[in-house]
Amino acid sequence: MSQATDPAAVNRQWLLAERPTAAVTPEHFRYHEAAIPEPAEGEVLVRTLYFGFDASQRIWLTDDGGYMPSIQIGEPMRTMGIGQVVATRDPAYSVGDLVEGFMSWQDYVLARSDGPMPLRVLPKADYPLSWNLGVFGVGGLTAYFGVVDGLKVKPGDTVVISAATGATGSLAGGIAKALGAKTVIGIAGGPDKSRWVLEQPGYDAVIDYKNDDIAERLKELCPNGVDAYFDNVGGDMLDTLLVHMAPLGRVLICGAMSSGYTEVQVPGPKNYMQICTKQLTMQGILLFFYRDQLADGAAQLAEWVAEGRLHVAERIIDGFENAPALLPTMFSGKEPGKLLLRVADQD
Ligand SMILES: NC(=O)c1ccc[n+]([C@@H]2O[C@H](COP(=O)([O-])OP(=O)(O)OC[C@H]3O[C@@H](n4cnc5c(N)ncnc54)[C@H](OP(=O)(O)O)[C@@H]3O)[C@@H](O)[C@H]2O)c1
Repeated sequence: MSQATDPAAVNRQWLLAERPTAAVTPEHFRYHEAAIPEPAEGEVLVRTLYFGFDASQRIWLTDDGGYMPSIQIGEPMRTMGIGQVVATRDPAYSVGDLVEGFMSWQDYVLARSDGPMPLRVLPKADYPLSWNLGVFGVGGLTAYFGVVDGLKVKPGDTVVISAATGATGSLAGGIAKALGAKTVIGIAGGPDKSRWVLEQPGYDAVIDYKNDDIAERLKELCPNGVDAYFDNVGGDMLDTLLVHMAPLGRVLICGAMSSGYTEVQVPGPKNYMQICTKQLTMQGILLFFYRDQLADGAAQLAEWVAEGRLHVAERIIDGFENAPALLPTMFSGKEPGKLLLRVADQD
């Protein structure tokens, strides 16, 4: 086995202490120190460097777990992360490799390349390591495949994107514009966030859902209706958008932030007959289904970043101890862009 761990160190962990039934709070987790695990044959030991924060982590905390196994009491909280290989008994990885994928809130994680979602080895790159969880991670790639393949945005389209300050929405606007959309409108909460959205490449206009009448603003900004709606929010906002879609419009269901993800079941839209009477197409997206095309998506995103068509927005907080306090902010007005926690520096 190749190895480079510090034998004096411990493995700090944040374990699920109690399953939340409403909003998640820091008290749902408990701190624990464990021994650093030894990789068995076929396993790799990774030191975690960054944790990404995703709203879907709240879904994994439900009894059902949604599209992934539910996290059990006593298990470390699952996260998307970036880490560095420190010991390996899996020939697919070498000591020093930087890797990205499913990890958990602990200093050291074990993984294997023949598992269901293996860690990917990150290419040597001249951009910040953290971008692999943002523009080249779940948010950026979901925005890319959502706009390109899900919504099939084309020149001349009027496009609306909700949660436009989020890791996904903040990039979806620039992607829609790069494909030739005529008007791209973001939806954000409050004047500061609305201003921020207008500063992002691609966005022509913004609707402040906390202060504006969304229906009135849609009438004003989209007199011929909305051709493509990237829905990150669901609930009443989706219902309002359905009424303002153009005939043959497309709706992409990416997320349901308004539900708070406290339960897997969320109420469906009341205005769903608009899908019939306007012959709308409503499609979902789950990034897993694009797993064989991720490198192509990332390459196109990199080109658009280099051309200034996309702006990478991230907020990095330091300190392992902060993980439980950051998760609830996903639902209570976090700052714009991708939220990340840096827990260690790479060697
Ligand atoms: N299907 C997939 O494969 C996939 C992949 C990635 C993400 N997603 C989904 O995409 C959505 C966005 O994720 P993200 O990582 O981009 O988000 P993010 O960075 O966590 O940002 C979420 C945004 O949602 C907005 N928001 C929160 N509660 C809201 C509410 N009640 N009504 C309206 N807006 C609200 C907030 O903006 P304001 O502060 O402006 O309110 C916040 O900026 C989530 O629903 C997530 O689950 C799906």
